Amino acid sequence: MSFDLVLRGGTVATAAEVFAADIGITDGRIAALAERIAPGAGAREMDVTGRLILPGGIDAHVHIDQAQSPGAAAAGAAMADGFRTGTTSAAFGGTTTTISFAVQHRGTSLRDAVADYHRRAEGNAVVDYAFHLTVTDPTQAVLGQELPALIAAGCRSLKVYMTYEAMRLGDREILEVMAVARAHRAVVLVHAENHEVLTWLAERLEARGETRPVHHARSRPLFVEREATHRALTLSEAAGAPPTVIVHVSGAEPIEEIRRARARGLTVVAETCPQYLFLSEGDLDLPDMEGAKAMCSPPPRDAASQAACWRGLEDGTFDLFNSDHAPYRMDGEGKLRAGPNPPFRRVANGIPGLATRLPLLFSEGVVTGRIPLTRFVALTATNNARLYGLAPRKGTVAVGADADLAVWDPERRVTVTNALLHHAVDYTPYEGMRITGWPETVLSRGEVVVADGVLHARPGRGRFLEQTLSSAYAEAGRWI
Ligand code: URP
Ligand code: ZN
Ligand code: ZN
Ligand code: ZN
Repeated sequence: MSFDLVLRGGTVATAAEVFAADIGITDGRIAALAERIAPGAGAREMDVTGRLILPGGIDAHVHIDQAQSPGAAAAGAAMADGFRTGTTSAAFGGTTTTISFAVQHRGTSLRDAVADYHRRAEGNAVVDYAFHLTVTDPTQAVLGQELPALIAAGCRSLKVYMTYEAMRLGDREILEVMAVARAHRAVVLVHAENHEVLTWLAERLEARGETRPVHHARSRPLFVEREATHRALTLSEAAGAPPTVIVHVSGAEPIEEIRRARARGLTVVAETCPQYLFLSEGDLDLPDMEGAKAMCSPPPRDAASQAACWRGLEDGTFDLFNSDHAPYRMDGEGKLRAGPNPPFRRVANGIPGLATRLPLLFSEGVVTGRIPLTRFVALTATNNARLYGLAPRKGTVAVGADADLAVWDPERRVTVTNALLHHAVDYTPYEGMRITGWPETVLSRGEVVVADGVLHARPGRGRFLEQTLSSAYAEAGRWI
């Protein structure tokens, strides 16, 4: 048997096991996985002795080239990353699939929004991508025709917001969207924060002149997230229990709500993000506008919340670890759009994290022994693939799967600097962190897209991925 490419001498990790194997790749797919592939069997050979071969990461929570809704508090703030730099940054960080949001603006059609995001990605994406649908205006046309058609066309996951004035849905609207998701077997993602409470708190802080970045965190305490998480899961229960993802969970109280809902039999999937492990409110409490670099929603919290998120990763409460990459520069185009010193309510929320997601968790989770390598793979690739209908093609190392692979040097010591990340954002909140382990060579469908710090991929080679039925529907009982 002969192959286009053979990776020789590596250690392969999947969500289930870690084993030594040579990998034969033909036509972009894994064609053989064997203890030893005969010498000379590959048209090209790569010696990966001493390296870990992981499935390329799937980052299922990224904002790329997303237009701010008109009327948003930070209206006009532009995302720095389009699909070219966003997916390039993904590749440099060992991620070979992104799922970003196709966002409807109120008063416009969701179908047109999706067509627009297809145009933004085509000709630009370096790795493969899918879209979640963000529903902000669930009209009868959207609920009755557009959503069913878009789900059938391969966008089988929908996000709803419980806050942000320009995007949020009322409970009744969330119910309607969830019911359509249930009927057409789509997955629902919820941004869960209590809008009325956080707005009231923010206005009181503002009235006292407390408008610095740290007050953003103080306006959105954990109970704001706890209540909304409970309400979102109640709405899911009422709507026939479509698989429901609580995204960007930041601490113990929403985690408890998720556990309770699971105990009642709901299919609840929980996601956390690097900022809830590695940042805290103190990172927002810095001189000048430095704290804006760590401003996201929900905000990073305290050591106890970080510990609760780590425990959730260790004990299986969290199924997903995604970045919530929201790429705003620290300049007049991005976070400082409203001026050099804007009150926190005028600063765009979100932090970059596509390229740092995997290296941070690898170093502080796997190298430290907190989570096994198999769990790292599950959290960062396999579970996203299964939940969002990209398996078995994506998210694992198996014969027949796409050869989306990250070759890691598990011992390489790296000091995180913004230049390593290849996004268009002008900062990383992790600048200066010293970590161990780095993805040095990254393949997408058998093609080397990154090697030794250099991009080898042609923009536009990335393809749109149609999601198939989520394993949360396809398999009885708990999906994982
Ligand atoms: O602050 C955040 N997370 N901004 C990105 C949008 C979202 O809510 O996920
Ligand atoms: Zn969100
Ligand atoms: Zn987000
Ligand atoms: Zn090359």
